[in-house]
Amino acid sequence: MTVAGRVLISEQDIRRRVAEMGAQISADYPQGPLYLIGILKGSCFFLADLARAISTPVRIDFIGISSYGKNNTTSGEVKLTKDLDLSIEGCDVLVVEDIVDSGVTLNYLSHLLAQRKPRSMRIAALLDKPSRRQRAVEVKYSGFRIPDEFVVGYGLDYAEDYRALPDVRVLDGL
Ligand code: IMP
Ligand code: MG
Repeated sequence: MTVAGRVLISEQDIRRRVAEMGAQISADYPQGPLYLIGILKGSCFFLADLARAISTPVRIDFIGISSYGKNNTTSGEVKLTKDLDLSIEGCDVLVVEDIVDSGVTLNYLSHLLAQRKPRSMRIAALLDKPSRRQRAVEVKYSGFRIPDEFVVGYGLDYAEDYRALPDVRVLDGL
């Protein structure tokens, strides 16, 4: 595994933006508990940092989704690989995702979780590639809009590598 390429978003920029998002979410949800639902595995670092930037009491759960895609694209088929441990009925839910690309994953998940009757449900995503959207997704809290480039780091992987990089980088030559 070679060291991944060009830094797109630095550690410092991530830290600053996550703090801003946390402050906004805290103001929007003065009363807890707020249920943070992380989508495995890419959201893990973002969720850990965001949770600590939110002053409202939170509860944390994870859901696993796999999409059948060729190369780096999502095919449109999505499967649940790990369900929530907690009931979200009547709860305020914030779905936490690493990146919104085609929107297929979050579109599927929003419908799935809505059936569980949460009191409210919003989406927070660190990154957004709006140019690639195929399905409508309303991202209430969006960290950074990025161009159509494949990125790794801060949870995002390429074939399971590079997740633990502290910053977000563009992998060139894919
Ligand atoms: P969507 O269903 O197309 O919106 O895909 C979202 C998922 O695809 C994310 O949760 C990531 O796992 C993956 N993904 C999309 N773009 C990238 C990228 O640039 N780098 C790494 N993973 C990505
Ligand atoms: Mg993902």
